[in-house]
Amino acid sequence: MKPAVLVSRAIFPDIVDRLRVHFDVQDNPEDRVFKKAELIERLAGKQGVLATGSERFDAEVLDANPQLKAVCNMAVGYNNIDVDACNARGVLCTNTPDVLTETTADFGFALMMAAARRIAESEHYLRRGDWKKWSYDMFTGGDVHGATLGILGMGRIGQGIAKRGALGFGMKVIYHNRSRLAPAIEAECRASYVSKEALLRDADHLVIVVPYSPASHHAIGAAELAQMKRTATLTNIARGGVVDDAALAQALAERRIASAGLDVFEGEPALNPALLTVPNVVLTPHIASATIATRRAMANLAADNLIAALGFGPNAGHPPTPINAAALKG
Ligand code: DGY
Repeated sequence: MKPAVLVSRAIFPDIVDRLRVHFDVQDNPEDRVFKKAELIERLAGKQGVLATGSERFDAEVLDANPQLKAVCNMAVGYNNIDVDACNARGVLCTNTPDVLTETTADFGFALMMAAARRIAESEHYLRRGDWKKWSYDMFTGGDVHGATLGILGMGRIGQGIAKRGALGFGMKVIYHNRSRLAPAIEAECRASYVSKEALLRDADHLVIVVPYSPASHHAIGAAELAQMKRTATLTNIARGGVVDDAALAQALAERRIASAGLDVFEGEPALNPALLTVPNVVLTPHIASATIATRRAMANLAADNLIAALGFGPNAGHPPTPINAAALKG
């Protein structure tokens, strides 16, 4: 008998079929978002799950399903998984790094440019029929080329954004990270390490790419926004919760900073309603990795991880991108 697995959200049907070769798969083609009780119920008897960031795997879910051996996220971020709880129960977790780096960096850069050059705001103006004449100061924004790009969180995606800024747009790149990068990587990205205070003070365009954790909760709040230039933009492609959305909405309304580009939100898909009332923000629904090629690569990598984690396929026992490899040894 094949082991049973759950695919918790709708994904590419042909990739679900890859799983069916090895597993008895319960999938979710209707794409319901399971609340905790339903997730617990659907996991009954399952040895593994191919999950997305929208389901939370905590001690309660794991304890209700002690047979569960692997949680394989189709996302690079894994703040939906309580990794300590998984470690304590020997549950292997995997994510999908690398395959989305360039696509997500493209999007972060695009969102930053859209905020700086007021693309969404001016498009709304045009669609409303408000454009009656050209004027010298209509939707004047801030330059991107030659400006100072500040990056908070200099992992792979942050590095991709740095290279785009430095090499493509002649930007001066500064970054702040938990730990400083090796000199060779700094040189490749043409990026200089600075304190968080200097980052906030000096960036013309601040891009947030830091993973969400209790330590990064509201890393950007009212106090941090107050340190930024009035002409600066802020772009968040990391996770809701890294930025205090209420404080940001207020800063935007008061023109304390020029504009923002947001792909992620606290409590998404719900939004802080104040964000919908300020014009100087570009809002997108968590789509930074959303190209067909990249979403397929993410789903395939999550499937590879699940197949290997449960002892099948060419990498049996060695999933390509584990988060807690220690659970494999245990
Ligand atoms: C990720 O991979 O973490 C993206 O944010 C999509 O969830």
